[in-house]
Amino acid sequence: MTKQWWKESVVYQIYPRSFNDSNNDGIGDINGITEKLDYLKKLGIDVIWLSPVYESPNDDNGYDISDYQKIMKDFGTMEDWDHMLNEIHKRDMKLIMDLVINHSSDEHHWFAESRNSKDNPYRDYYIWRPGKDGAEPNNWEAAFGGSAWDYNEATGDYFLHLFSKKQPDLNWENPVLREELFSMIKWWLDKGIDGFRMDVINFISKDQRFPDGEPVEGKKYVSGHTYFMNGPKIHDYLQEMNQKVLSNYDIMTVGEMPGATPEEGQLYTGKNRNELDMVFHFEHMDIDSGAGGKWDVKPWSLVELKKILSKWQTALEHDGWNSLYWNNHDQPRVVSRFGNDTTYRMESAKMLATTLHMMKGTPYIYQGEEIGMTNVQFDSISDYQDIETLNMYHEKIKDGANPAELMQAIYVKSRDNARTPMQWDSTKHAGFTEGTPWLAVNPNYPPINAEQAVADPDSIYHYYRQLIALRKKHDIIVHGSYQLLLPDSEEIFAYTRKYESECLLIASNFTANDIDFTVPEEINMYNEKHLLIGNYKTSTLYFRHLITLKPYETRVYYLK
Ligand code: NOJ
Repeated sequence: MTKQWWKESVVYQIYPRSFNDSNNDGIGDINGITEKLDYLKKLGIDVIWLSPVYESPNDDNGYDISDYQKIMKDFGTMEDWDHMLNEIHKRDMKLIMDLVINHSSDEHHWFAESRNSKDNPYRDYYIWRPGKDGAEPNNWEAAFGGSAWDYNEATGDYFLHLFSKKQPDLNWENPVLREELFSMIKWWLDKGIDGFRMDVINFISKDQRFPDGEPVEGKKYVSGHTYFMNGPKIHDYLQEMNQKVLSNYDIMTVGEMPGATPEEGQLYTGKNRNELDMVFHFEHMDIDSGAGGKWDVKPWSLVELKKILSKWQTALEHDGWNSLYWNNHDQPRVVSRFGNDTTYRMESAKMLATTLHMMKGTPYIYQGEEIGMTNVQFDSISDYQDIETLNMYHEKIKDGANPAELMQAIYVKSRDNARTPMQWDSTKHAGFTEGTPWLAVNPNYPPINAEQAVADPDSIYHYYRQLIALRKKHDIIVHGSYQLLLPDSEEIFAYTRKYESECLLIASNFTANDIDFTVPEEINMYNEKHLLIGNYKTSTLYFRHLITLKPYETRVYYLK
């Protein structure tokens, strides 16, 4: 076993726009974060991952950066940021920054130069290709709709943008660009931060032939992902970045990697690979998407969820490391997605937390998850702000889709579900701002808010505190091996963790019914069996092999 601080840590993600507004302009800011550091310290988290706070025209809320070394005015100043970092470190917590280097904003001065002429020094910072037969260079679709290529008058050719057309992709083939990025990364590390979350980092190496994606009937543009996800030089680039910059610091790195398989995850995070510490894969986030993609919502199955998470647990068991998450700023709220956000909101939020935090890996909590925040249903599309949601809606309406059906999909999948402001208390706008919030608060804030949760010893918040505290106390939670039980059960997610002579038995009921759980014979051999944590008041010991789990009940037994 190798001890590394980021294996023992719990990370809390802050989406700054929606966290806490200190100057009442309706937008969360850096000083607002600093005001809430004691709240986070009390929760017990170790590391803050801060979504982008760099200068940006906000086409995609900061994931379109126009200056990597400046702070966005909406969020404050570099002095505010320095002060925040200092206050984080004073409380013995750490800070990792979001690093968005697959693309920049089209308003970055590099791109302004690059698009100007074919012979300026920034030309090869981006990906330019001539058109084909009077149209785009290939049929790739951008993640936010339309072609992934946009025409540039001044030079008569096209640039690639895998996301919006205001997010041109950087050309990692160019060593000058790579050096420029590495020196920017070094600049932030020298300011004393503790690592990075790297945005779609497995997209940076594109197949230089730029082949067409597999045609789909009735569609002009299609996914080209096989030609840029985990592309031909991805490992070379990550190793170069690691060797030239990252390895000189005691930091943690986590790569966001849509489309990564466990085998690739092992290559990205293996001990002697010198790439990254851990990755965010998306396999469990895709289980409610049908053949038509994210908005084609389909029922999910617990058997599949267990299969995916267990596959990753096993693949990285001996070499590599998992990140564990249910939520982030791009995903619907987990209590609405895999739990029950009405009758059993408290029970299911705690159950989901337990199921995740007891697995092997570094757990991530997304702001508001610790108080059981839920999805939102705004009446009108004009209440939504997210570029992905809006582009999809308007494109599909043009194609004749039914607005009510689209709204149903938005209620389940829109990224704005995660982005409604943090619910701090029961005053107007949930205490997030005294101004008009940039995105409306979820109307359920009077009963669901942090003030209420901190005051109630039985709350989801205090339950998270206990989970985090247990991690600090028991090495088995960090280092124990994982074995799935009952793979075919559609109701129960059960597994064990084993470490030296200890064992943990985790059993979670994912339904609103009482369900019997028969403890496998080999587990009954242990003498000591006590309840480490659970979400119902129940006997702290168990003697028989049959446990009846109440709706959304979860129990963790410590066995020796
Ligand atoms: C992934 C980020 O999490 C998401 O919010 C963003 O829109 C895309 N990458 C593009 O940067």
